Parts: sequence; C-alpha cells; structure tokens
Amino acid sequence: MKTLFEKYRPSTFDEVLGQDKAVKKVKTLLSRSWGGRAWWISGASGAGKTTIAQIIAAQGADGLYVREFDSADQLSTSEIDKIEQDMHYFAPGKGGRAYIVNEAHGLRKAIIRRLLGLLERIPNHVCIIFTTTKIGESKLFDDQIDANPLLSRCAKIELTNQGLAKVFAEHCRQIATKENLNGKSLQSYVKLAQNCKNNCRQMLMIIESGEMLE
Ligand SMILES: Nc1ncnc2c1ncn2[C@@H]1O[C@H](COP(=O)(O)OP(=O)(O)OP(=O)(O)O)[C@@H](O)[C@H]1O
Ligand SMILES: [Mg+2]
Repeated sequence: MKTLFEKYRPSTFDEVLGQDKAVKKVKTLLSRSWGGRAWWISGASGAGKTTIAQIIAAQGADGLYVREFDSADQLSTSEIDKIEQDMHYFAPGKGGRAYIVNEAHGLRKAIIRRLLGLLERIPNHVCIIFTTTKIGESKLFDDQIDANPLLSRCAKIELTNQGLAKVFAEHCRQIATKENLNGKSLQSYVKLAQNCKNNCRQMLMIIESGEMLE
C-alpha cells in the first residue's frame, strides 16, 4: 500500500497547491520547449519540489525514461557517462528522457564540473531537473566555487513558503476525512501545518499515524 503522501502526490500542475507563481513560470517555459534545458527548483522541504519535477518530466518522457536520483551522491561520474551516452538517442513513447536529481545541494565539485559541460549540450528531447532546499542551496554556495556557473545554466524556479499553512491545512483535512483519519477542526490542521513548517509530507505522515483522530 502506498503512503498517504505518495497516494495524494499531485500528478498535474492544477493539483499543485499554493505555488501559483512558480507553476506559472514553469508553464511559460514549457510552452517554449520541454527539453534542451536544465531546471533548478528550490524551496522548503515538503513544499512540492520533487512533485513539480516529476510533473515536468512526465510531460515529455515516459516513466521508464525518467531517471530519478534521490540524492546528489547517487549521481556518480559513471552515471554521468551513461547520461552522456543515452542522451543522444530518442526514447520510445513520448521520445524524451528526463533526469531528476534530488537533494542537489549534495553535488560534489568533480560532478559539478562534469555537469557544466553536459548542461551546455542538452538535446531538445532531454531535460535535467535539480531540486534542493533553500538552506541546502546556500550551503552549496558556501562550499563550492563552481555552484554559480551551474545555477546560471538552469531555469530557476523558487517555491514560496508563504501562505501555505491554510492551503495545506484544508487539503490535508480533506484527505484525512476521505481516509477516515479526521476528527479535528480546521484550526488544528493549521496548527499542524505550523508545527510542520508547512511540510505537506510531514503533515500527511502524522495524519496517517492517526494523530488527527479524536
Ligand atoms: N504544493 C503541494 N500541493 C499538494 N501536495 C503537496 C505539495 N507539496 C507537497 N505535497 C505533498 O507532499 C508530498 C511531498 O512533496 P515533495 O516530494 O514534492 O516535497 P519536496 O519539496 O521535494 O520536499 P523535500 O525537500 O523534503 O524533498 C507530495 O507527495 C504531496 O503529497
Ligand atoms: Mg524532494
């Protein structure tokens, strides 16, 4: 069985809550071209970075051809070699290939250097998406001299942490009700959102453990 947060992960931009500005920017860029570019999505944990990355990826690439790295250290030099080889070929189905690198603040210098070259030559049927928390991003800048050239090669999408408490509270309460896990007022969910620093995943995990039952 899927966890609640996976079960209710948005699969379209319309379902992504509280990130209208970022979603609008993504849609504008996508209307120009799906591939041929890298994205850098930053924001707080549980605000929708990986979700948005997956929606972008799915627009141009079939599931089998979306490769997701859960953390930057999974992106080894041999993985980069493989991406460089594969990216010359169209994939079956929608034709595109997408690479999602989560927790991109963990990228090491040697990998960043390889990426700088690779990102200059992304074919139109390939997109590469990095996601990272804001805190991680500034840490990357502290530690790595080459972070700036990397970011300057990416379309930057910044998620907001403003105005999410109420939106996530309503959303999570609806889910809790549907799953017979709700016994509390909307106000309790707003408090939950605040306690979770607007991390929607964390909220849904707490709901799943029955804590919002009477
Ligand atoms: N903006 C949103 N609208 C609706 N649901 C959301 C949103 N953001 C997060 N969620 C819910 O929280 C879950 C986790 O979101 P996601 O994986 O996109 O977070 P993230 O920003 O990548 O966090 P992390 O930095 O911890 O990786 C999603 O599966 C979804 O259920
Ligand atoms: Mg993520």
